[in-house]
Amino acid sequence: MSNFEQLISRLDLKIYEKIKTQLTDDDKQTLLGCQFAVRNLLPKYNYLEIGSYLGGSIQPHLLDEKCARVYSIDKRPLRQPDERGVDYIYLNNSTARMLELLSEIAPTDKIKTIDGDTRREVKPSQIEEKIQMCFIDGEHTDEAVLSDFKFCLEVLDENGAILFHDSAINYNAIANCIQYLKDNEIKFRANSLPDAVFVIEIGDFPLHKSPPIMERLLNNHVGFIFQMQYNDYYRQFINKKPFQLYRRLMTKLKGTNISD
Ligand SMILES: C[S@@+](CC[C@H](N)C(=O)[O-])C[C@H]1O[C@@H](n2cnc3c(N)ncnc32)[C@H](O)[C@@H]1O
Repeated sequence: MSNFEQLISRLDLKIYEKIKTQLTDDDKQTLLGCQFAVRNLLPKYNYLEIGSYLGGSIQPHLLDEKCARVYSIDKRPLRQPDERGVDYIYLNNSTARMLELLSEIAPTDKIKTIDGDTRREVKPSQIEEKIQMCFIDGEHTDEAVLSDFKFCLEVLDENGAILFHDSAINYNAIANCIQYLKDNEIKFRANSLPDAVFVIEIGDFPLHKSPPIMERLLNNHVGFIFQMQYNDYYRQFINKKPFQLYRRLMTKLKGTNISD
């Protein structure tokens, strides 16, 4: 067993140590668990991600000999809109900077980078190989996530997985993606994993049977609590005095707090 195989079989966070990411440790281990499952299902796989920033979420695939190709699609705007209501700013965000950081880990020839977004600029025909694992972590708006998802579906192999980050932010978009699968009678299985990773298996691609994923599914309190607490900010906000007084008045007028 190679050093990388030993590390991934125990979901070792050392795999992520070279480039910093905004992923939590549980996110990282879930992503490693999915990668572990994919590499056990197939002799080789291709990985595509939308939203790479510094390359933090690429590093496990760059190190993986079973990963033949990595596609990184990133629009790299200075500021990106977000369903949380404020734009998020990414400084010094360039493909050159990402490749420089990744090249300190391993040769980067298997990485193909495309600057742009899937709504207007990047076309599925630009992806030359079928993809088995996609990760969506670009613009966190409902419109962008649905567009990224449809793009991933088009380039995905008959059986493959599409993962989303920040499910506590992108939950409405994810609901739309699931509706899209139902409307189009596409066979899938979908699960929320800790902390905020959402996994859709398309066709027959049973990541959930792999022990690290199964373990997370059986102990699903971890992701549940993280995601509820992540959004607790909104409850705290709406419980501030002026909003509370307004809500009390409205409940009194409408009588919506009475059970019989
Ligand atoms: C949260 S960061 C990605 C972090 C990375 N996946 C990691 O774990 O280290 C989001 C990235 O999405 C990119 N982005 C913003 N809007 C985009 C869009 N519409 N399409 C593609 N990428 C976008 C940004 O440039 C930024 O690099």
